[in-house]
Order: sequence, then structure tokens, then C-alpha cells
Amino acid sequence: MANDTTGRLFEASEPAHYHDLPACLDTAWRMLAEGATDRRSAFHAPMASSVGLDGRPRVRVVILRGCDPASRRLRFHTDRRSDKFAELARHPAIALTAYDAAAKIQVRIEGEASLHTDDAVADDAWDASRRFSRICYGVEPAPGVAIADGGGFRLPEADDEINAGRAHFAAVVIEARTLEFLYLASAGHRRARFSFGDPAEAMPIEATWLAP
Ligand SMILES: Cc1cc2nc3c(=O)[nH]c(=O)nc-3n(C[C@H](O)[C@H](O)[C@H](O)COP(=O)(O)O)c2cc1C
Repeated sequence: MANDTTGRLFEASEPAHYHDLPACLDTAWRMLAEGATDRRSAFHAPMASSVGLDGRPRVRVVILRGCDPASRRLRFHTDRRSDKFAELARHPAIALTAYDAAAKIQVRIEGEASLHTDDAVADDAWDASRRFSRICYGVEPAPGVAIADGGGFRLPEADDEINAGRAHFAAVVIEARTLEFLYLASAGHRRARFSFGDPAEAMPIEATWLAP
């Protein structure tokens, strides 16, 4: 037996987030932070949703490149010429969803996206990117342009051409406003929601269990 933060005893085989609300938030941020650094993590490739220019939902997989639980910020990279960039420039509302089937944990984040193209955030992200990742930003024609056949595009090969892709590179930083945690368990699922207030605060202003 072990103690959770409310002092209640529970079976040690049950994870802390089964009974303990703060532990749900800790687990969520730990998994997101691992997702940003560990390519084998299921949280490495979450789904990011935006509001389409026609008002309809748009969703796609992105690679999680950064996560700072203290500031509630997450980061992914994209091409400035992509639809999602135009969508987020028009409407910064964004949702991010990750699911780890082995851990049976889903995390859903809703927040605001800021687009970084020519500032230190973008420079640092570009500098930390591997050559293999940088190549994508030199694709011609631009992402999403219709082409006559599947191979009808060109990727840069020479270093100067690859580095010219910096002009198309953007870092998207998400500031989480709400985080929802869902843990699937045969004995009963656990669902929790956290809402955040002041941008500088990592502590939620509201935390509650939800019926699953
Ligand atoms: C595993 C995986 C990882 C991806 N990572 C990214 C990414 O980090 N950034 C990105 O812009 N697109 C990424 N994509 C491609 C997007 O899912 C999407 O197809 C593309 O960006 C076009 O989206 P848009 O038209 O909504 O802009 C990834 C796709 C897969 C399957």
C-alpha cells in the first residue's frame, strides 16, 4: 500500500494518477516532455488541430519539438507556406492531442499558438534542427501545391540550398490554456481537467475530475 497526496491508502499497483488529481497533471507534463525529447515516445507525434480558413476543423500529425511545463508551452515546427501556418495566423486557437496506447493515457491541450519566423525562437529552433529535418523546408513547389505526378517536386541537396529553406521555416509555440487527462482502466477510467490563468503561472487556477 502507498499514500497519495490526500493521505488515502491505495494499491501500489495503481498509478498515482488513479486517485490523485495533481498527479494527473504531473504525469501529463512528464509524458509531453518525454515526447519532445524521445523519438520512441508515443507523445512524440501528437495531432494538432486548427480552424480552417473556411471555418471547418483541420487536424494533422506534427512532431513535438519542445515542451516547457513551467511556462505551459509546447513547440512544433512547420513550413510558413503550409495551410496550417495561414490558419494559425488568421486564428491562433489550437488543440493538441496525444495518445500513448501502452500507458492508456490521452492528453488533450487547448491553447493559443504564436508563430515565430524571424526571431530568436525560430533561430534557435532552426539551429537545433538536423540537416535531415531542414531539407523539408526547401521543397519546391510549396507544400500543398497540386503537382502532375507524385514525384513532381524537388528537395534541396547542396548545403546552401538547404540553408535557404530557413526562409520557409517557422516555430509554432503553443501556450496551454486547458489540459485534459484521460486514463483508461478496466476498474474505471479517470478523467481530469486543468485550466490555467495568468500566462506565467504553471499552477492551474481550476482542477477537477470529470466523469469519463
Ligand atoms: C509522423 C509525421 C510527422 C509530421 N510532422 C510534421 C511537423 O512537425 N510539422 C509539419 O508541418 N508537418 C508534419 N507532418 C505533416 C503533416 O501531418 C501534414 O500532412 C502537413 O504538414 C500538411 O498539413 P497542413 O496542410 O494542414 O498545413 C507530419 C506527418 C507525419 C505523418
